[in-house]
Amino acid sequence: MPPVADTFQSWITSLPRWRGFVQISAERPYAHAEDQYDTQYGVSAGEPEEGQGLCALLASNEINTTGPALEIGCGTGRLTYGLAHHYPGPDILITDPSSTFLRLTQSQFGSGDGLPARQHFALLNADDLTQLPPDMFSVIAMRSTLHHILNVDEFIASCARTLRPGGALVMGAEPNESGYVLMAAVAQFIPAVLRAEKIELLPAWEKQLCDFTDTVKFYCRRDIDKTTAEDKHLFVPNELSELGARNGLTLRYLPNATFSDFAPPHLPEFKSFSVFFLNYLQYCMMFDAEFLQLIRKHLKQHLRYLDDCYRSHVGPAITGVFLLKKTSA
Ligand SMILES: C[S@@+](CC[C@H](N)C(=O)[O-])C[C@H]1O[C@@H](n2cnc3c(N)ncnc32)[C@H](O)[C@@H]1O
Repeated sequence: MPPVADTFQSWITSLPRWRGFVQISAERPYAHAEDQYDTQYGVSAGEPEEGQGLCALLASNEINTTGPALEIGCGTGRLTYGLAHHYPGPDILITDPSSTFLRLTQSQFGSGDGLPARQHFALLNADDLTQLPPDMFSVIAMRSTLHHILNVDEFIASCARTLRPGGALVMGAEPNESGYVLMAAVAQFIPAVLRAEKIELLPAWEKQLCDFTDTVKFYCRRDIDKTTAEDKHLFVPNELSELGARNGLTLRYLPNATFSDFAPPHLPEFKSFSVFFLNYLQYCMMFDAEFLQLIRKHLKQHLRYLDDCYRSHVGPAITGVFLLKKTSA
C-alpha cells in the first residue's frame, strides 16, 4: 500500500480546478458579505490560539495525526491559521463552499513556506462528503460550521467513513439546544422588566427581540425545511453521542469550551451565562448599544441568579466542543 501522503497527493491532483482552487463541490457564496465577517464578529485575522488549542486538544486525546487534516467551512481562517502552524501531519485540505472565503483565508499565508504541513484549498460543501475517499483523513476540523450543514446524520456517517482509525472529527463553537432556549426564554421577559421600570420599547428594539426569539425557535424546530437557511440547527450532546456510536465514533463533549482554551496560557474563554448572552445579542443579533445598556442594567439581578447557580461549575452549556474519535481498527 502506498504511504497515506502519496495517496492523498494523487487524489488531490486528480481533481478538477475552478478559479485556482481544487473543486469538489459547486461554489456557494455565504449568505452574508464575506468581507464584513470579521468586523461583525470582532475578529482579527490570523489569531493563532484557536488552531493551536485544537492541536493541543488532539494531542491530549491521543488522536493519530500522521495523515492529512481536512478543515470544513474555513470562513476567514479563524481556525485555519493556527491549525496550519501547529498541525503535525503532512497535508491540510482547507475548504469552504465560498471562493471568497477561501481567498480571504489563503491571503493569510503568503507562500506558505516554512509551515509544517502542505496547504491545499478546495471548494467543498459538507453535503458532498460522499465524494471523499474512505480512510483518507486523520482529522476533520470545523469551527462554528456543523450548525450550517443540512443533513447532520449523513454528514457524521460520511466523516466516519473518510476518517482513518484513531483519527477524529473535532467541532468547536457549536450551539447547545438547552442553552439557546434558555437565552431565548430570558429574552422573552425583557419587555416586562423594562415596562415595570416605565421604559417603553422602541419598535426597533421589539423587532430585535422578536428576531432573536424567532431565530432560536427556528434553529430548535426539526419539522421545518431549512434548505435555504444559512444557520440551521442546535445540538443535544447525547444525540450526537448516539449518532457517533452508530458510526464507530466515540464522543467527548466539552461544554462551553473553545479551542483556544487549550492553547497556552490555558485561560477558559467562557466567563458566565450573562457574558455569553449579552455578547450574543451584541455580535450575533446586532442589538443596538442603548438597548443593550438597558438590558444590562435592568436584568442584572435576573442574570446574576443564573450566574450564581453556576458559581461552582461551568454551565449552563450554551456552546462547546464535540470531539468524535474513530475507534482504532
Ligand atoms: C459561521 S461561519 C464559520 C467560519 C469559520 N470557521 C470561523 O470559525 O470563523 C460558517 C462557515 O461554514 C461555511 N458553510 C456553510 N454551509 C456549509 C456547508 N454546507 N458545507 C461546508 N461549509 C459550509 C460557510 O461558508 C462559513 O465559512
